[in-house]
Amino acid sequence: MAQLQVIVLDDTQALFVRAAEEIVHVSGESICTHGQFTLCLTGGNTPADVYSLIASRFHLSVDWNAVHLFWGDERCVPPEDPASNYAMAHRTMLSRLGLDQSQIHRIRGEDDPEVAAAEYEGELREFFSLGAGEFPRFDLLLLGLGDNVHIASLFPGLPAIHETSRLAVAVEVDAPQRKRITLTPPVLNSAARVMFIVSGRNKAEAVKAALEGPRDVDRYPAQIIGANQGEVMWLLDKPAASLLSHSK
Ligand code: 6PG
Repeated sequence: MAQLQVIVLDDTQALFVRAAEEIVHVSGESICTHGQFTLCLTGGNTPADVYSLIASRFHLSVDWNAVHLFWGDERCVPPEDPASNYAMAHRTMLSRLGLDQSQIHRIRGEDDPEVAAAEYEGELREFFSLGAGEFPRFDLLLLGLGDNVHIASLFPGLPAIHETSRLAVAVEVDAPQRKRITLTPPVLNSAARVMFIVSGRNKAEAVKAALEGPRDVDRYPAQIIGANQGEVMWLLDKPAASLLSHSK
């Protein structure tokens, strides 16, 4: 069964620093135990300051030569589009790290969505040397939380919530940049560790639904996480955690 940790930080800056510290910690542990650190990034706005911290204050704390970066989802836009999750990571972190292109496994948002999903799946299968029915085991997979309780681009009601064999799929969502590519539930749930980073009072209802709501993955996709996880950590600031029962 998954080991679930819910950690509430006093404010947003404390949340971002703790998230960066956790990434550094897991990178060191992963590189020590198996010589590399596979980190799957999340998109959206929340992690931007975490990525900036990693590339500045924590830059020297990571052995970047042993790091490989992936994305949990991507909008179907070119990599230089401000809406691109790759563009956000590049602006805040990649542009300051000097990684080799072979370490950066972005989803090709500029391509036809079905082609991009298949290309990304192929890259995951090759990198992780996956056999039939196997899923990539990221050392750390970051997730944000939508105010409608979505994770990656798995929005409420999407058939992709029930995907059990493909690694990445093209979806259409009710949000800006309708067309997206997303990792599927079995991939999210095969990560060694999943870390949610959620900030703000506007996410409190979504956090409450995800952690304490009735079980309904179609309505609350964030509940997908945890079925068979190694470690699941929710990093929240106080406003985002404000509706949780005090038993947490
Ligand atoms: C995306 C993200 C998405 C994000 C949530 C929260 O492509 O937008 O992968 O799942 O994490 O929508 O976004 P914010 O951090 O901007 O609130």
